[in-house]
Amino acid sequence: MALEAQTKSIVAQFDYTDEDVNKGVKEFLRQMGEGLEKDGTSMSQIPTYVTAVPNGTEKGLYMAVDLGGTNFRVCSIQLNGDTTFNLTYTKVAIPKELMVAKTAQQLFAFLAKQIELFLRTHHEEHFEAHVRRRLTVSSPDGYMDENVFRLGFTFSFPVQQSGINKGTLIRWTKGFDIPDAIGKDVCALLQIEIDRLHLPVRVAALVNDTVGTLMARSYTSPGKTGAVLGAIFGTGTNGAYIEKLENLKKPLTGEYDKSTGDMVINTEWGSFDNQLNVLPNTSWDIQLDKSSVNPGIQMYEKRVSGMFLGEILRLALLDLLKDPKVSFFKDENSSSNDWKSTTNIAEDSSIYTEWGIDTAIMSVAAADNTPELSVLRQELESTLHIHSPAHDDAEAFKAIAGAVARRAARLAAVAIAAVVLQTGQLSASNDEPVDIGVDGSLVEHYPYFREMIYEALRIIDGVGEEGAKRIRIGVAKDGSGVGAALIALVAAGMEKSTTTADYFSELRSHAHAQSTSLTAVLEDNDEVTTD
Ligand code: BGC
Repeated sequence: MALEAQTKSIVAQFDYTDEDVNKGVKEFLRQMGEGLEKDGTSMSQIPTYVTAVPNGTEKGLYMAVDLGGTNFRVCSIQLNGDTTFNLTYTKVAIPKELMVAKTAQQLFAFLAKQIELFLRTHHEEHFEAHVRRRLTVSSPDGYMDENVFRLGFTFSFPVQQSGINKGTLIRWTKGFDIPDAIGKDVCALLQIEIDRLHLPVRVAALVNDTVGTLMARSYTSPGKTGAVLGAIFGTGTNGAYIEKLENLKKPLTGEYDKSTGDMVINTEWGSFDNQLNVLPNTSWDIQLDKSSVNPGIQMYEKRVSGMFLGEILRLALLDLLKDPKVSFFKDENSSSNDWKSTTNIAEDSSIYTEWGIDTAIMSVAAADNTPELSVLRQELESTLHIHSPAHDDAEAFKAIAGAVARRAARLAAVAIAAVVLQTGQLSASNDEPVDIGVDGSLVEHYPYFREMIYEALRIIDGVGEEGAKRIRIGVAKDGSGVGAALIALVAAGMEKSTTTADYFSELRSHAHAQSTSLTAVLEDNDEVTTD
């Protein structure tokens, strides 16, 4: 009984009421507006220099790489021009030590190496043709090597963009921490390592994964109006949307096409309400923030995204375990355990280790509707080394995990609704759906995550039942890869007036400003960079 009562009280602390949701939306809109006016606000509202979304007719072969969480992905994408594409990709886990490497060069060298492996496996012909061309062309000026892949670089961290393939890192998130990289142009860092390996690849576009998702969604499901928002609910969370240029009050430094009157904005909503004006704040949220690598930052992300939900759950469970009045994952004797055994938590159980619960187990808990919760109980045994958990233990686990996830989904609805309201699309006098592309492990794998978002959308002022019906949230799988390819395509168009030689000399002077040792590397690679 004590367990049931204590579980209820924990679950109640994760309640995020309809009133809270509406307050959240108002504050979200206010902070969005603030970010459009000036720099240095909690939501960065970063202009991306992307001014239009695709319509599905784009064609060509491009490369994309994606650094943004637990894995690094390299892919090549054939855009077929009929809203379809073919994607070839490899994925490798990022070694933990590189996430906190001493120098940025160590991380970027690893990334370039993966690009080389990918090209050798899937596009050997490009290497050969490129090398042949290099050996036969005598005059480098004005020469564009058609065998050089244009690469879209999806880099899913807050970056101050100053052009379509230029941007300096503002801060790391999601457990990465390499101070040496802050303030540097991440495209130049990657190009330098690519050149070191003599690869026929040019970093043509810098893309946040949310922008990629928005592009990919518009390519694959073009309606009359295209998608308005691309959002990620995965290891981290963020959204990019289409904003009217006239609402963007802070100064823009780079070149861009003004004809559409729009620009895609990377909100960096992971840092919404770092000041905690409206975000819920339980004792477990406070503990988690304290032990994170970036206390006080990404406060919304820490309540919503996959990297953190497992840890919030773990901290809440630990309180239950420590409570002397409650018998949780322990039995008086075998008669109080429905499997007629006694529960043991192995000493090495990762329930005792910081970040030891993977959010994936929350999906298992939510999906298990068997009367005995046998799937979840097996999972508790295999992943957390909790032997013979009783039915009531598993029920408590499921209830708390469900409450953490439900709060996350309702917070996700706050961001989605605020962006939709900001774009004014719901008041447009047509019946077109307001299209949103989403990607990430939570929307993909957590059962009913989208349903919980819709449930909250329906009670939001200005959205309501009718509005929620018009909002179409669809998964844009692999969005960041395809989207990056699409932006590389736009960038390749913009290159036409610039020769390869111009590009590299510009890149070189940029790199020089960053570090003299990096320039030395470029000098070494002269034969590649000026061919
Ligand atoms: C980063 C964003 C990114 C999001 C989703 C956040 O931690 O700051 O740039 O879009 O994660 O990957």
